[in-house]
Amino acid sequence: MPRRKPAHKPSSAPKILPKASTLLAWYDKYHRRLPWRSPPGKPADPYVVWLSEIMLQQTTVTAVRPYFEAFFSRWPSVEKLAEAEVEAVMTAWAGLGYYARARNLHKCAGIVAREFDGKFPDKQEELLKLPGIGPYTASAITSIAFQKYAVVMDGNVERVMARVFAVADPLPKSKAKLSEFARSLTPKKRPGDYAQAVMDLGATVCIPKSPRCNLCPWSDNCAGLAQGIAVTLPKKQTKTERPMRTGQAFWMVRKDGCVLLRRRPNRGLLGGMTEVPCSAWDSKPSTTTQSTDSYGQNSSLELSNTKISCEAPLLKARWKLIPGTISHTFTHFHLELSVVGANLTPAQARSLDGPEAIWTPVEKIGRVGLPSVMRKVAQHAIKGMG
Ligand code: ADE
Repeated sequence: MPRRKPAHKPSSAPKILPKASTLLAWYDKYHRRLPWRSPPGKPADPYVVWLSEIMLQQTTVTAVRPYFEAFFSRWPSVEKLAEAEVEAVMTAWAGLGYYARARNLHKCAGIVAREFDGKFPDKQEELLKLPGIGPYTASAITSIAFQKYAVVMDGNVERVMARVFAVADPLPKSKAKLSEFARSLTPKKRPGDYAQAVMDLGATVCIPKSPRCNLCPWSDNCAGLAQGIAVTLPKKQTKTERPMRTGQAFWMVRKDGCVLLRRRPNRGLLGGMTEVPCSAWDSKPSTTTQSTDSYGQNSSLELSNTKISCEAPLLKARWKLIPGTISHTFTHFHLELSVVGANLTPAQARSLDGPEAIWTPVEKIGRVGLPSVMRKVAQHAIKGMG
């Protein structure tokens, strides 16, 4: 793709545009050493780039590092990943969040292994047809793995562009403008190193709260710094607050020390992941009904049957409310869960048996691959039940 001058040449643009070569020289010296990275100037394995970029979507480098290492040592090629059971991939992904990524990862590996002879396509249009690959990931693979010109935009790049060009319009409205500025600076030579260099600049120098402008290779050409407004950029449209939902988790322990878990439906939030059975997560207070004020002997409990909870029977048991609550934040809402636990009689346990029931020894709960919210529930319940 040709390099273009930005259409939006703002009055506040730096007088002399920063040079890609200055940033690349900085990157050669100060690049972050990351397990998925090749040294500057060296080609990168497309499988490695793809795997890491999928993991890095909406997720920090710190969180991704151990997952990348575990995945890569277990599945060192796209063919090996394609041969894996999808459940094994989902379990290995547990805790990283946004679980549709794991399902798409497995699906994409299958397509590349079978239809592309194990080789990732090097064209953005082809990459975009693969599951889980959007414009950002397609650009990252094209530039980092195949060293072809592509403009890579992520949160770090947006911040750097907003500051260098002193863009005061708020995100997300300013995205197109920031992309054009990014395009105007992206070089034809070493576009992959350049993309990673801007990411590193944003992550280590041009950081959100207190930018280290004295360490920045582009400080002489930064309009935001010249105007003394760099730290205030990018501006963001005020977000509406995340709503609060509440619910209840049911920790049911069999005589042999196994706990009842179940798999969530493949579609939707935490799709296909294993969970501790829960009531619905409602925007109103918990839906659990009790026959007595406290969870005493023989109180009854109704597990409501809604879109996020599988069907569960009305179960009379000696329920115990475990003091405290679990808080977890998802992209679109905060969740607060209370947890109730019961040691079940054999008859009660049998009444819950069925194809969905996954009875798991308490001491093996850490190996199941629970998503983070359910790990919190399990930890809380184990502590509370003694
Ligand atoms: N964030 C997204 N992609 C990245 C990469 N390749 N290196 C570092 N941080 C990233």
